[in-house]
Amino acid sequence: MPHQPKAHAMRTLEEEIIAHNITPELAQQATQLVIGDGNLDADIVFIGEAPGKKEDLEGLPFIGAAGKFLNEMLEAAGMTRSDVYITNIVKYRPPNNRDPSKEEKAAFWPYLLKQLQIIDPKVVITLGRHSMEYFLPDMKIAEVHGQPKRIAFGDHKIVIMPLYHPAAALYNGSMRQTLIDDFLKVPIVITELDDEEE
Ligand code: URA
Repeated sequence: MPHQPKAHAMRTLEEEIIAHNITPELAQQATQLVIGDGNLDADIVFIGEAPGKKEDLEGLPFIGAAGKFLNEMLEAAGMTRSDVYITNIVKYRPPNNRDPSKEEKAAFWPYLLKQLQIIDPKVVITLGRHSMEYFLPDMKIAEVHGQPKRIAFGDHKIVIMPLYHPAAALYNGSMRQTLIDDFLKVPIVITELDDEEE
């Protein structure tokens, strides 16, 4: 059963975050840790910013308005949530949905890397600048959105595709269309990577 070791590793990671008391102030105010959701054998991992109110209550990422938009774009690109894995850089809800701080993002970064090592996807899609800045520190989202970038990641290379955040694009007509257009490129990027492997 190929899924079991990965599920076990992900549960262990969750326990480590709690045991290591990561971002204690956020942990205290949040209902629960939102580790992520989806297919542990996915080719694509999406990384957002942090859980919002609904995510905090239900323990799942991207299930509010931004999540609904994300689901629609997945469907338009021929995918469902069970094909991909979805998580956030910060895994507790910041109070009143404020932006996560630099320290909070830094505290979760090693755990995000461990998650990526467990899943070992072909492409990591960052949603918004909070998750992009760690992978592509000197780049501006307005200039690089929708473009796959190859970076060194530990001892192997990984492809990062930065996209706008669905919550930012939801009510902004031109950004919304740009995000949809970028999203439709995702299956093409995956096919190109598969062709390279052959
Ligand atoms: N926005 C995010 O960045 N992540 C979520 O899980 C929900 C909304």
